[in-house]
Amino acid sequence: MGHSEKKSLNLTLKVWRQAGPADGGKLETYQADDISPDMSFLEMLDVVNERLTLEGKQPIAFDHDCREGICGMCGSVVNGRPHGPEKGTTLCQLHMRHYADGDTIVIEPWRARAFPIVKDLVVDRSALDQIIAAGGYVSANTGGAQDANAILVPQEVAELAMDAAACIGCGACVAACPNASAMLFTGAKISQLALLPQGKPEAARRALSMVRKMDDLCFGNCTNERECEAECPKEISITNIARLNREYIKAGIFSSVK
Ligand code: SF4
Ligand code: FES
Repeated sequence: MGHSEKKSLNLTLKVWRQAGPADGGKLETYQADDISPDMSFLEMLDVVNERLTLEGKQPIAFDHDCREGICGMCGSVVNGRPHGPEKGTTLCQLHMRHYADGDTIVIEPWRARAFPIVKDLVVDRSALDQIIAAGGYVSANTGGAQDANAILVPQEVAELAMDAAACIGCGACVAACPNASAMLFTGAKISQLALLPQGKPEAARRALSMVRKMDDLCFGNCTNERECEAECPKEISITNIARLNREYIKAGIFSSVK
């Protein structure tokens, strides 16, 4: 990479500031000068926060933990797109080299009725945890480890289950959906178990209770907009929503569990 491509960036940020859940929020403008293109988006926010703190101002509250795309904590709507412009990339793994000197970047929290704003860019996503909890347990034999060949799983089924299990629970699918639906998230969580033999015994109860919980928590319905799939940082396929629907219908018709 040539030296000129490493030139630092001067950016204008418009950031949603909201002191608490009951307060009205608004976009505030900040100058983010001398930002290295090698920084991640969150490192850029760290620099801005350091400067705000030195000026005696409140730093911008934002969620983060692993900063390597695995925990699902980070995420904001950046210029209208959850996790920013890069496909299959969490905000913590988005690099500032994707921006040009002089750009204006608008940063807002996830917006969904089921995700109340806690402060600035931080939203309460515990509704997703409640859907997981509604899924309940998976039957597992205790005792000595089974022989690896005792439960045969075809390779392509194992791959599909692994792909579904890649969901990090970030909530970008909800933020991207015009209906604020959590179907992609719930579809992934139902699929990762429904596909495998170990997930079969409780599959009906799990599908019914996770879908009911999702509805109770005011997430919207799926109308096949496909925005969730386009914005998901883990590229979870909407075929998982189709599987969720099949599991739910199957449970409703054939199962004695209601
Ligand atoms: S499906 Fe994708 S966007 Fe939705 S919570 Fe999982 S990783 Fe995030
Ligand atoms: S901070 Fe963990 S996924 Fe971004």
